[in-house]
Amino acid sequence: MSTEFENLGKLEREARAVLEAAGNTQALTEARARFLGRKGSLSSLLRRIGELDATERVRVGQAVNTSKQRIEAWFQERRRALEEQAQSHALDRYGLDVTLPGVAPPRGHLHPVTLIEREMTEFFSSLGFSIELGPEVETEYNNFEALNFPADHPSRDLQDTFFVEGGHVLRTHTSPVQIRAMTGRQPPFRFIALGRVYRHDNDATHYPMFHQIEGFLVDERVTFGDLKGVLYAFARHLMGPEVQVRFRAHFFPFTEPSAEMDFSWQGGWLEWGGCGMIHPRVLENCGIDSERYQGFAFGMGIDRTAMLRFGIPHIHLLFDGDVRVLEQI
Ligand code: DAH
Repeated sequence: MSTEFENLGKLEREARAVLEAAGNTQALTEARARFLGRKGSLSSLLRRIGELDATERVRVGQAVNTSKQRIEAWFQERRRALEEQAQSHALDRYGLDVTLPGVAPPRGHLHPVTLIEREMTEFFSSLGFSIELGPEVETEYNNFEALNFPADHPSRDLQDTFFVEGGHVLRTHTSPVQIRAMTGRQPPFRFIALGRVYRHDNDATHYPMFHQIEGFLVDERVTFGDLKGVLYAFARHLMGPEVQVRFRAHFFPFTEPSAEMDFSWQGGWLEWGGCGMIHPRVLENCGIDSERYQGFAFGMGIDRTAMLRFGIPHIHLLFDGDVRVLEQI
């Protein structure tokens, strides 16, 4: 038998060396062709297998095929190595690994309080109300006196109010925005004010900082009926068309008459906010003729509305800034 057939082992070693030496995919493809291609060494060997006698033919045939498989496996191995090399080259050079799975950047969303504030603003804008602003550090005068709070009113106590030096407080409600918005202007007014307010209070439903919306409308011939109509429409906008509202007589220094307003919730009533006809003295404090003009006003907590709408059981969850909680809303 020809020694060529006996030298398969040598051919394999040679093939392996050539494959390993290939420095790029083109050289590698050429190296493979040299041994496994149609004109490659192993193919020509197989073509000449007829020169052998029958028993030899089978043995050598099998041996050549096994060699082909081995060389093919080395080829694949070398190809992977070259690909990885090219990849890590890109990584070194560009700091970029294009084979890594993509990472979606975390996307934030608006805070529940902001979402509700936007819904509220949208509703009142549609009724022609515009937004007024006021500072969170407010004068005692705007926060209390001008709103007709008597000097000895209990809410002016340290127990309820955060006092700041120089006759200032952290506003305890958004009502002082009424004073700022009306002073030096003449009706008609249709305003809302939204923002943070502060009180000494801290439990499952109270937080020392919370949010209120204030609304007020002043014009000639404004009635309590107008107030009820607006608040009923407001409740339906937020809570859906089925919601009911209820007004209970109450007292606030800055409105007369005053009411507390509830809406229907899960078979019962939930207290929602205060409202009333703006006290003539408040209008006079702002330089408005209370004989000619009347107005209504209302104020309610925004956080509470957000908690109900999103099923948040504890007000602290709104403000602890825990992303795991906020993500669920
Ligand atoms: N300022 C009140 C509070 O913080 C809420 C309020 C009640 C506002 C009646 C009003 C109103 O404008 O008319 O509790």
